[in-house]
Amino acid sequence: MELVEDCGGTSALAVHVEVLVKPRSTASKTDVRMHVVAFLDHHRVITGNHRWTEFDEQFLRQNVDSVAIADPERGTIDLKGCNLTVHIFTLNNDGLSTLNLEEDEELSAANHWLLPAAEFQGIWESLVFEDGVKTQLLDYVSTTIFFSDKNVNSNLITWNRVVLLHGPPGNGKTSLCKALAQKLSIRLSDRYTYSQFVEINSHSLFSKWFSESGKLVTKMFQKIQQLIDDEDALVFVLVDEVESLTAARNASHAGTEPSDAIRVVNSVLTQLDQIKRHPNVVILTTSNLTEKIDLAFLDRADIKQKIGPPSTEGIFNIYMSCLGELMKCQIISPRQQLLTLHELETISFMESNVSQMSLNIHLKHFTFKCSTPTVTLERFLGALDKAVDKELEDRAKMVSCA
Ligand SMILES: Nc1ncnc2c1ncn2[C@@H]1O[C@H](COP(=O)(O)OP(=O)(O)OP(=O)(O)O)[C@@H](O)[C@H]1O
Ligand SMILES: [Mg+2]
Repeated sequence: MELVEDCGGTSALAVHVEVLVKPRSTASKTDVRMHVVAFLDHHRVITGNHRWTEFDEQFLRQNVDSVAIADPERGTIDLKGCNLTVHIFTLNNDGLSTLNLEEDEELSAANHWLLPAAEFQGIWESLVFEDGVKTQLLDYVSTTIFFSDKNVNSNLITWNRVVLLHGPPGNGKTSLCKALAQKLSIRLSDRYTYSQFVEINSHSLFSKWFSESGKLVTKMFQKIQQLIDDEDALVFVLVDEVESLTAARNASHAGTEPSDAIRVVNSVLTQLDQIKRHPNVVILTTSNLTEKIDLAFLDRADIKQKIGPPSTEGIFNIYMSCLGELMKCQIISPRQQLLTLHELETISFMESNVSQMSLNIHLKHFTFKCSTPTVTLERFLGALDKAVDKELEDRAKMVSCA
């Protein structure tokens, strides 16, 4: 969300509305936009993370799966004073494919998705970070893509469209890269007809390929180049665990790394440098060990964002979203509304039918602590068990008091 000038010359908040169209809908984007704007006209104040999936109007029922105002880092929004940008999209259900290099070999160069992908949907909303991290990244990357598209002279304003997310394992770096690409593919769907997401795993690249020197790397990048050549496509290249590439180069100075491996690393870095010259490419990288990344690579990244463990509030919200998912799939019933900590604060922790369950889990029972937010089934059930035990205990006390 950013400040923009509206037609009347006064500044208004720009609100992004994401409209997921049903796969079989044949309605034009213009019609969908018109109906969605009319629908939103009936709503005023909403929370920054609001999704409608049920509609009275027949057109929307037939053609639209959901209308979402997806800005969880925002509190409440008064739609009347806002400048609405409506993004209309469908999800790609093809799933993961691999970029194979040799017809007869099982050499998978990288994983590949067409965006927006059904598999990536919802990741953005499920990720909880410190205030502003997601919005800043999204705004920053969309600005760099916009600058490149408009041919802003990069000698005057320097940017590379390279993002580095670093921090301890299991804190959402890879997920955030995927979510960011998905979000941008939706937000920029008027400019780019579709987006590609290519995930290079540096780790397997090393273990499988280093004896093949840089030849296979060149081949892999030729494939990526073919995707980039389509100017209507926005291409995201994710290099996960980028330190394993650059660490090898550093080790070469110490003379402890085989020369083949060094050739692979140099080849990857040269190729990355080449593809990032294209305006429709964004390079996303992650690392657990920032100190092992070589300085030349670090310099290439415009944004170096540390992704640390989430706060207690973050962990609570992650558990709420897991609980919500289990309710949606009817594994836990009845389905009840769940509130984030921010929403509980907004209503001053007042008990009501709506807030009761979230309050119970947070205020009385949510004493669960963990160092990473990865929610394994065991941990999740453990936390729930605790909540349920405490609830039963409290009820027993109340009965005995009565
Ligand atoms: N801040 C967070 N909010 C919500 N879920 C999170 C968060 N951090 C991690 N998770 C969940 O934990 C799991 C692991 O996250 P992910 O693989 O993205 O972490 P990572 O930082 O890339 O880890 P690694 O460094 O080991 O590769 C994912 O399922 C993700 O949804
Ligand atoms: Mg990862």
